[in-house]
Amino acid sequence: MTDRYAVLGNPVTHSKSPLIHAEFAHQTGEAVDYTAIEAPIEGFASAWQQFAAEGGHGANVTVPFKAEAFALCDTTSHRAKRAKAVNTLIVGGNGRLYGDTTDGVGLTRDLAYHRVVLKDKRVLIVGAGGAVRGALEPLLAETPSEVVIANRTAEKASSLARDFADLGNVSGGGYDAIEGEFDLVINGTSASLVGDLPPLPDGLFAKGAWAYDMMYDVEPTVFLQWAGPRGAKLLDGLGMLVEQAAESFFLWRNVRPNTAPVREILRQSLN
Ligand code: ATR
Repeated sequence: MTDRYAVLGNPVTHSKSPLIHAEFAHQTGEAVDYTAIEAPIEGFASAWQQFAAEGGHGANVTVPFKAEAFALCDTTSHRAKRAKAVNTLIVGGNGRLYGDTTDGVGLTRDLAYHRVVLKDKRVLIVGAGGAVRGALEPLLAETPSEVVIANRTAEKASSLARDFADLGNVSGGGYDAIEGEFDLVINGTSASLVGDLPPLPDGLFAKGAWAYDMMYDVEPTVFLQWAGPRGAKLLDGLGMLVEQAAESFFLWRNVRPNTAPVREILRQSLN
């Protein structure tokens, strides 16, 4: 018996999730069928309910439905409550809907994969939207000495920092809140999608620092093109995408796929 899963989003045609989960299923021998479903902008809940009624066991949720999915769940994980978002839906044995978010842990697993150590390091996060909110709990769990959130709209960054202040040394503000050198600079903005680059100061990177872009739309991304000549080691968000998928797969199947070969396949699919 093959169990059915899907990714729900809008638009969703370019989603890499069906490819990733097909590779995971092949590799682990799990009987999983995973498709992409474009839910109408005003019709996320009914698209999910229809899929569940047809025997769907669980789903990934992507833009723009993650907050709506959170609201739809009967119960959610601790990290989903912090993120106020759900990217993984699981139908429980009792028919109740459980929601979790694996985006943030996808980031920290990808950093670990590349041996980027966060303990006692200074981290700058540019952006203060949903993607950054989802990443903060797992990032702070790695006990960096400081996390600074800088955003075009300063108030969003300071309010986000206040929401996570119980978990570590985190502050937020506008770009003028950026001071000193950082060991890791994460671009969590979608600025590059409109051809923009956040106006970051030179001299941002400490010796041996990493620049991480949550985006992977072009190779290298606009942010990484900027960071490379300034001495940073570069990572884009492709590994984060594979790792969040692996964590969802684990939640559904209790089997942890090997992400290394899937990273390679995905990288080739972009070229
Ligand atoms: P996501 O779910 O991808 O995080 P989001 O919640 O809409 O999307 O957040 C987008 C982030 O990118 C925000 O931090 C946004 O800055 P504002 O809060 O000031 O809107 C940032 N962003 C988007 N376009 C940008 C641009 N052209 N320049 C700088 N920041 C930008």
